[in-house]
Amino acid sequence: MKSLIKIIYDVVVGLQFGDEGKGKIAQKLALIPGFYQVSARFNGGPNAGHTVIHEGKKLVLHVVPAGILAKLRVNFIGPGCVIDPVLLKKEVEEIQALGFDSKTIYLSELVHLITPYERVIDKKMNGALGTTGKGIGPTYAHKANRSGLRVSGFTKYINSPKVRESVKWDLYLEESRIYKDTYREESFDGLLFEEFEEWFDALVWLTENISVAKANFFLSDGEVHEIFTDRSDIRILAEGAQSVMLDNTYGTYPYVTSSNCLPSYAPVGLGLPGKAKKGRVIGVFKAYNTRVGSGPFDTELLDGSGDLICEAGKEFGSTTGRKRRIGWLDLPDLQYACELAGVDELYMTKVDVLSPGVTGSVSVCFSKGGGVATYKQFDAWDSSRIKRDTDITGSFRSFLDLVEEHLGILVGTVSNGPEVNDLVRTKPTPEGVGYVM
Ligand code: IMP
Repeated sequence: MKSLIKIIYDVVVGLQFGDEGKGKIAQKLALIPGFYQVSARFNGGPNAGHTVIHEGKKLVLHVVPAGILAKLRVNFIGPGCVIDPVLLKKEVEEIQALGFDSKTIYLSELVHLITPYERVIDKKMNGALGTTGKGIGPTYAHKANRSGLRVSGFTKYINSPKVRESVKWDLYLEESRIYKDTYREESFDGLLFEEFEEWFDALVWLTENISVAKANFFLSDGEVHEIFTDRSDIRILAEGAQSVMLDNTYGTYPYVTSSNCLPSYAPVGLGLPGKAKKGRVIGVFKAYNTRVGSGPFDTELLDGSGDLICEAGKEFGSTTGRKRRIGWLDLPDLQYACELAGVDELYMTKVDVLSPGVTGSVSVCFSKGGGVATYKQFDAWDSSRIKRDTDITGSFRSFLDLVEEHLGILVGTVSNGPEVNDLVRTKPTPEGVGYVM
């Protein structure tokens, strides 16, 4: 019998309302020499955004996993994701311009495509939810409704420019008819063929510049076994997009995204064999809390006192540029998220933002009994002198202790600056543990 490659997957998951800095943590983990072979996204689409600086140049990753920056052999966009070909093309062009090999990006043929129509529907119908307007909701809705378009619907045409041209036109007519009939939207008349053509051409460009992965990519007869002939096992770093509190089922519905963000969805959203083993779940949260878009936010600072935190933390969406709402850390919510996600180790980010120049004190909500939030207060701290575990003292130590005691999980690493290397282990690093820097 053919010997199969053993697959283990770790998951990085956000525990608040997104924007916790997961991308930076995933990037750092992917850089551990020889540890991961594959990085992957299992949910969401261009609603996510992760800004990185590579050799002085800014790059925003939306759907390509951060492992691309660590030059992993496979950077997989899994079947649980949705893509907008126009936006993905732009992202891939930027990646190419920085000198990375775009053929290491594998796009599953089961991924659903956001069409120009879905963008319009999202903007028109989901305004009250404060969505990113990227067409995420309508695309997942059409997937569930079995009326969506998948990458696999196109791959058969890409080698024939003649067939391609007629397919493009037929598809345009068909799509516009479906959407006009379904939504009775006059504004669809304004969607010109040129816009659809740009979309179609971007898709063709993608099939030539990145790799398209078959549905069985990770299975015994799939391509992974041809790529890794030199290995008996591979380790996948799965990057969750959005976060537990925005999960379509377990978040603050209906103020949520349209995909499932929990680590338990990772093997489904990647198409892993059922026998693949779950490794570690790495939960990421900010030392305070933010939310972009509408929806409940129990610890929100409504009196403008969060404005300095917003400025200091550069709390503006990397996808939409929107100003984020600011609030204090919410331990009951975090406890819920950690338990659902099955977090093994925590990373706390943006510790440097809560400095005395930005806020006099730092509050943490530790109880919401009877609907009343109760807080504990700490003096703001100067994290610029925290370079290693023994530097963690005073009010920041007490803050960390409260979080760890409440959650019963180690906050193994804190992030005290925007750079990928601005990370400090809170405990001496055990020998031979591959997860830590
Ligand atoms: P959608 O995912 O564009 O449908 O937006 C649904 C909700 O999720 C809105 O409140 C968005 O602001 C929020 N959201 C979606 N993606 C992200 C993200 O990557 N970070 C933070 N919030 C997000």
